[in-house]
Amino acid sequence: MSSLAGKVVAVTGAASGMGLATAARLYAHGARLSVADINQEALSKAVDQIKAKATGGTSSGTPEILTTVVDVRQSKQVDAWIDKTVKHFGRLDAAANIAGVLGKNFGVGDLTEIDDDEFDYITSVNFKGVFNCLRAELRVMEKGASVVNASSTTGLEGHPKNSVYSATKHAVVGLTKSAAGEVGARGIRVNCVAPGIIRTPMVASLDADKLDSVFSRVPLARVAEPDEAANIFTFLLSDEASYVTGSAFVVDGGMLS
Ligand SMILES: NC(=O)c1ccc[n+]([C@@H]2O[C@H](COP(=O)([O-])OP(=O)(O)OC[C@H]3O[C@@H](n4cnc5c(N)ncnc54)[C@H](O)[C@@H]3O)[C@@H](O)[C@H]2O)c1
Repeated sequence: MSSLAGKVVAVTGAASGMGLATAARLYAHGARLSVADINQEALSKAVDQIKAKATGGTSSGTPEILTTVVDVRQSKQVDAWIDKTVKHFGRLDAAANIAGVLGKNFGVGDLTEIDDDEFDYITSVNFKGVFNCLRAELRVMEKGASVVNASSTTGLEGHPKNSVYSATKHAVVGLTKSAAGEVGARGIRVNCVAPGIIRTPMVASLDADKLDSVFSRVPLARVAEPDEAANIFTFLLSDEASYVTGSAFVVDGGMLS
C-alpha cells in the first residue's frame, strides 16, 4: 500500500490492541502518525512498539509520530488534537477512530440492570467519542481523504447482555453511512470495520465462559490476531480502497455468515 507513504494519519486508541496494530501497519507503510489515547503511560510505550513492529520503509525518510493524550469523550480535547495535528504536519489525510470500551456488564447484565453511569460511560466513549473525532476530522480533510471507524459485529446484530455496547456500535455504523453520504461529493470516504473476536487486552479481560456462546459461531474456529483487523483498517485508509465508502467491513472469521 504505497499510497500511504507520507500521508498524515490520526489514530485514536493507539496505545493498545487494534489501534496499536493499525498504527504500526500504517507506520510500516510510511505514514506520518498523530496517535492519541487516554492512557498516557501506554501511549508513550506504544511509540517504541510501533517503531519496533515496522518492517517496511519509506522513500520519503523516517516517518514521524506525534503523540497526544486525548479523552475522545471531550470535544474540546479532540478539536485541539486535530488542530495540533494539522499545525504540525500541514494537513490531515486519513483517520482511524478506534478508541472504545466494553463496559463492565458484558455477558452478565440485562438491559434492566444497567445503571446510568455505565450507560453514560459506554455511550460517551463509543458513540460520542467517534462523533467528536469524525466531526473534527471532516472539518479539515480535503479531497482524497479517508476515515475508518471501529464498529463491531455487535453493531450489525443485537447482542443480549451487551445491549448498550451493541447499540453504540450500531450508532457507529449509522454515523459512518450518513457521513459517507455527506462528504462523498468532496471526494472523502468514510467506512467502518466490524470486528468479531480479536485477541486484544479488551477481550483478554473477559472470562472465557462469557465468550463460549460467541466462539461456537465462528466457522474459522479461532480468535483473530490484532494484525488481521489492522490489515483491513489500513486497506480502507489507503487509496487502494478508492471506490469503497459507507461500508461496514466485517472481520469475523465468518461468524455472521
Ligand atoms: N477486541 C475485539 O474483539 C473487538 C471486537 C469488536 C469491536 N472492537 C472495537 O475495536 C476497538 C478497539 O478495541 P481493542 O480490542 O483494540 O481494545 P483495547 O482495549 O485493546 O484498546 C482500546 C484503546 O482505547 C483507549 N481508550 C478507551 N477510552 C478512551 C477515551 N475515552 N479516549 C481515548 N482513548 C480511549 C484505551 O486506553 C485503549 O488503548 C474498540 O472500539 C472496540 O469496541 C473490539
